[in-house]
Amino acid sequence: MSLTTNSAIAGSIALQMEQSSWIRRMFEIGIQLRRERGAENVFDFSLGNPEVEPPAAVLDALRQVVSESRLHGHGYMPNAGFPEVRAAIARNLAARTGVPFGAEDILMTNGAAGAINTVLKAVLDPGDEAIVLSPYFPEYRFYIENHGGRMVPVDTDEHFQPDIPAIARAIGPRTKALILNSPNNPTGVVYTADVLRRLDRIVPEPMLVVSDEPYRPLTYDGLTPPETFGILRRAVVAWSWSKAMAIPGERIGYLAIAPHLPEAAALRSACTFASRILGYINAPAIWQLVVGRVPDATVDVSRYQEKRDLLCDALHSMGYHAPRPQGSFYVFPKTPLPDDVAFIRLLQAEGILAVPGTGFGRSGYMRLSLTISKDDLVRSLPGFERAMGRARS
Ligand SMILES: Cc1ncc(COP(=O)(O)O)c(C=O)c1O
Repeated sequence: MSLTTNSAIAGSIALQMEQSSWIRRMFEIGIQLRRERGAENVFDFSLGNPEVEPPAAVLDALRQVVSESRLHGHGYMPNAGFPEVRAAIARNLAARTGVPFGAEDILMTNGAAGAINTVLKAVLDPGDEAIVLSPYFPEYRFYIENHGGRMVPVDTDEHFQPDIPAIARAIGPRTKALILNSPNNPTGVVYTADVLRRLDRIVPEPMLVVSDEPYRPLTYDGLTPPETFGILRRAVVAWSWSKAMAIPGERIGYLAIAPHLPEAAALRSACTFASRILGYINAPAIWQLVVGRVPDATVDVSRYQEKRDLLCDALHSMGYHAPRPQGSFYVFPKTPLPDDVAFIRLLQAEGILAVPGTGFGRSGYMRLSLTISKDDLVRSLPGFERAMGRARS
């Protein structure tokens, strides 16, 4: 039965589920292709699910944490998280950014998704607006709409950097937030310090910049992304260890609220309350203790870089326009046909699964995830070449 005609389901959810169907469609096509061609002949570039093991330091810390006994170690705790973990994260963040964070500025969350939902719940009234930069992580629309907000997409420039005059034009009396994501999913671009400085000049109070940073530790060629808190006065950071530690199933991250925000105290209380009534209650207890011990442990980024170079070099030699990502683990090439969905079908005929740019609000492109194994990546390359040939004929 169609969800839209089933009155037990809210109309808004039925509509959102229809809008969110790209990844789901890829998943279903993947099942069908595996049945038809055999799993070994399907090359899945559609998912951002890390294929590497978490760093040894993380697994060691996990073993240590579960072997210790502590009073109320598995019990309720303050909604914002274990005080000693928040203090450890604050020290770590202060050392990196130079901003004097204290434990009270850190709210442990269920990954970046939990952090973004929490802060949006705290600041959006129904009808308020949140700007996202296109192409964008498609879940943002639903996170914003969860709280009655309206998503306002603003195109990035030809290098996928924020277009500051366009953002300035989109800011209105109801704009409460701008969501930034660098290193970016899906483009792999890292925003420059210069563009962030120019952005800072146009962000008025009470608007917040929600900087979604799960990919910060995943950069290539030794690049360090500019320090958000040092540049953007009105930033809050949504952090996650999902990608850095390859633990997306464990749901652990934090929201950091800059102590210099005039409304910092009110925002901390509002976010803590929002996290409680959204049903998160608190971030997973064991994983708080683990990340508090090894906050900087990161997967071996050189494995992603090797696959990035392999894929980009091969695509370039076939005539694809495929900018080399500076960070995250996605490549975002132009599709040889302007109709990205039509080109995705040519790839599917080769057993290759990719997500059309349309799913990220930018047609004419496709997203390829480097979480695929190196062996599958290499075996998929003739398929990319044949699909290019077919698009040109
Ligand atoms: C840009 C971006 N933000 C947020 C998330 C959600 O991350 P988490 O697993 O920490 O909730 C993802 C996951 O793919 C992402 O790519």
